[in-house]
Amino acid sequence: MQANVVVVGSLNMDLVTRAQRLPQAGETLAGESFFTVPGGKGANQAVAAARLGAQVAMVGCVGADAYGQQLRDALLGEGIDCQAVAIAEGVSSGVALIVVDASSQNAIVIVAGGNGQLSPASVMRFDALLQSAEVIICQLEVPAETVEYTLARGHALGKTVILNPAPATGPLPAHWFGHIDYLIPNESEAAALTGLPVNDLASAKVAATHLLALGVGKVIVTLGAQGAVFADGTGFEHFAAPVVQPLDTTAAGDTFVGGFAAMLARGEGVREAIAFGQQAAAISVTRAGAQPSIPYLLEVQTVVTA
Ligand code: RIB
Repeated sequence: MQANVVVVGSLNMDLVTRAQRLPQAGETLAGESFFTVPGGKGANQAVAAARLGAQVAMVGCVGADAYGQQLRDALLGEGIDCQAVAIAEGVSSGVALIVVDASSQNAIVIVAGGNGQLSPASVMRFDALLQSAEVIICQLEVPAETVEYTLARGHALGKTVILNPAPATGPLPAHWFGHIDYLIPNESEAAALTGLPVNDLASAKVAATHLLALGVGKVIVTLGAQGAVFADGTGFEHFAAPVVQPLDTTAAGDTFVGGFAAMLARGEGVREAIAFGQQAAAISVTRAGAQPSIPYLLEVQTVVTA
């Protein structure tokens, strides 16, 4: 099997608590439930792309612990090529401590663990995977130099390069932008990248214009229930979000990115890919947890054709 989507990124075990609300500083809150599920932005995007029709390979790193084994097994169970998911001795696997509140919003603390060991050399070693890909996806839960290398290499190979700048803490290095075909931030990430407030359609357009001026190919700002704004330098398009009752928004953005990439990899147009990614993400928010919430192709097609 040759992978047409390659994800270079993180794998985390998600330790998830539900509580009425998110705790404040110094406060101890009683949670209502607890569960442990595979997550990590990279792995979630890989699972989404695989469930939504792509042949996927993952490049990542876990610790030599039980979580690492479970995280790798979860991807293997989805038919994802894990030859490039290394197991590092002496570090834990990545973990994410997640609290989901009654209104389905979440707060997440991540500990990089093995994700922090993913070096440019770990990606170079599997250059054949990048060469076989149509689409290469990165996020920001692995070292910046590894993201930088992957973006540059993907661009040099003429691949479609997607950066989901999550989590974003500030502007990206200027020389990255020319290597990115699709930059896909959410509101808070677009705000962190530009220094501008982003909370609605109008402000998303301003931020997208700013990002295009920095040299990125195309921008998709995802706005949750407010949909998504697509900007390619010739204008803006708004894609309304499907209306659903959210239970847990964890991995909604990852589902969008994975679904979007799967559609591009099979030759669909960008508008079809955005609408498809939105349908998949809308299903995911009605379910709890990261990877367990991601729908399969048939579920999304059923909604699209209904
Ligand atoms: O995007 C959701 C993901 O963010 C979670 O699965 C968690 O692992 C964090 O990486």
